[in-house]
Amino acid sequence: MNTDEASSTAYTVAQGIVYSGRYSQYRQHVPDQLLESSEFILKSSRDGRKLLKQLSNPAMRFLLKLFERLTLPGMSFHYVLRKTFIEHSVRNAIASGVKQVIVLGAGFDMLAYMLSKEFSGVKFLEIDHPATSKDKQNALDAEIIDRPNLHFSAVDFSQQSLREALSFNSDFDSGLSSVFICEGVLMYLSESDVSHLLFSIRESVVGNCRFIFTSLEPLQSPQNDCGLILRLYLRAKSESLAWFCSQSSISSVLKKQGFRMDESANDVQIASQLMPNLRRKRFHKGEYVVNASKQESKNYI
Ligand SMILES: C[S@@+](CC[C@H](N)C(=O)[O-])C[C@H]1O[C@@H](n2cnc3c(N)ncnc32)[C@H](O)[C@@H]1O
Repeated sequence: MNTDEASSTAYTVAQGIVYSGRYSQYRQHVPDQLLESSEFILKSSRDGRKLLKQLSNPAMRFLLKLFERLTLPGMSFHYVLRKTFIEHSVRNAIASGVKQVIVLGAGFDMLAYMLSKEFSGVKFLEIDHPATSKDKQNALDAEIIDRPNLHFSAVDFSQQSLREALSFNSDFDSGLSSVFICEGVLMYLSESDVSHLLFSIRESVVGNCRFIFTSLEPLQSPQNDCGLILRLYLRAKSESLAWFCSQSSISSVLKKQGFRMDESANDVQIASQLMPNLRRKRFHKGEYVVNASKQESKNYI
């Protein structure tokens, strides 16, 4: 991504959620808190307000929908599904004793903002590329920035390892049972940066640790319906896709890095599990969510 501009895809995710929750035929399935918090973060910045303005214009909505259909059909609702799954998994982790949640490449995701209010005894730390992190913090009120259990940190994972960044971060506690979230990010990192990230997560926490993330099926896979137009678009935006892994092989990739895959779900699987009343003919194919835990044994390689 560009080093001095906030990630455009981070804005796109929030816009997709607002589109799904306000204008799509599936809007009754979008959780209120997710919709309202996404609107809130977009309203709080000039670039975000431009995206909301686009949505309020029927002609622009038509063009946005057309663009989505040509590049990644079903993507806006996919954001809703993946965030619903991640929130569900994080809530389960907190219910089973997790005391620290670290959101990597947080973008304009509002999970830490929402849950830090509800769970005052859990620490939340958002880490993002400096340009995106700056825009997010500028957009949030002082009351939120100063919330005692919500912290922000700027790191470029292509320049600094997560482990190093965490070792200098006084808001991070390596002794707490933790969940790391990395949603819509790994596909922009090189294979070696992904390996370093997994290593950092595993080594940064002394005790139990869970890693919830999304991953992308290879572009040529029948499980991925992303088209050439999307690849050209991302290249033009300097956010080219770099890392892919099929859902069928993610378990073995994780095992080599000392993690056990507990669950993985694509859109159809998330919908059947968490939105049983959703009637939808076509789902996004490509990105899926994984919930993994650190293996205790050191003999994983
Ligand atoms: C598609 S957005 C996803 C945002 C958010 N996780 C969500 O799903 O709503 C990608 C995020 O990855 C972050 N990112 C991309 N490359 C990065 C890097 N090298 N270091 C740190 N963050 C990076 C961007 O700043 C952006 O917030």
